[in-house]
Amino acid sequence: MAALHVVQITDFHIRAEPGARSGGRDTHATLAAVIDAIAAGPAPDLVLATGDLVDDASPASYGRLAPLLRRLPAPVHAIPGNHDDPAAMAQHLAGGNVHVGPCVAAGAWHVVLLDTLVPGEPHGHLGPERLAALNAALAAATEPHLLIALHHPPAPIGSPLDDVGLMDAEALNAVLDRHQRVRAMVWGHNHHIHDSTRNGVRRLGTPSTCIQFDARPEMGFTRTAEPPAWRRLTLHEDGSLETEVCWLTDAAV
Ligand SMILES: [Fe+2]
Repeated sequence: MAALHVVQITDFHIRAEPGARSGGRDTHATLAAVIDAIAAGPAPDLVLATGDLVDDASPASYGRLAPLLRRLPAPVHAIPGNHDDPAAMAQHLAGGNVHVGPCVAAGAWHVVLLDTLVPGEPHGHLGPERLAALNAALAAATEPHLLIALHHPPAPIGSPLDDVGLMDAEALNAVLDRHQRVRAMVWGHNHHIHDSTRNGVRRLGTPSTCIQFDARPEMGFTRTAEPPAWRRLTLHEDGSLETEVCWLTDAAV
């Protein structure tokens, strides 16, 4: 069985008005350029879209986003971020190759998409019900290796956005510690790179397809000059993985 090739894209912040900018960048144009770059490279088996897909949760924004995601040469599995509305995602984004769903199995890997959204709040929280569902999903998966995708980082990571992170990260860790097959977690939210390991689980934060923030906590919400980005992951049959963040260095952004 061949390795599974996954692309993660996150924090598009698409807005309803054509030409709308965030931090000086046209977020629709930067996502379009990222998707063109992904489509020009080796085709992934799976694309994970990890929240803040739009900026204003409006049907019109999802309507502008949908045709862009349809251009990706692979199934796209999306979860909401704090700027999203899950009901609007299901109604105006899902369809064709785009799915709003909790799990997908492919080869030796099982990917769990975890919704951390608290409606109307910037921080994330899982609560007992979603943690129980996660525990059940991890136990039920028959594949030998598990990857979890979520919007909020699964722990304070020394970021300016720690105050609006996942509020019950310790409860999440307690669930993860019951399962020995979780190999990695990927998220967005912070608009900067993170790479660490906890109890054998690789923890990967991925920059945005639009603007990035300085990772130093004392910097607050300070934009960097870094270009739009996405992440590639190669998930091997033996549970090991390789990953890189790709930067859109050749685009006029
Ligand atoms: Fe974001």
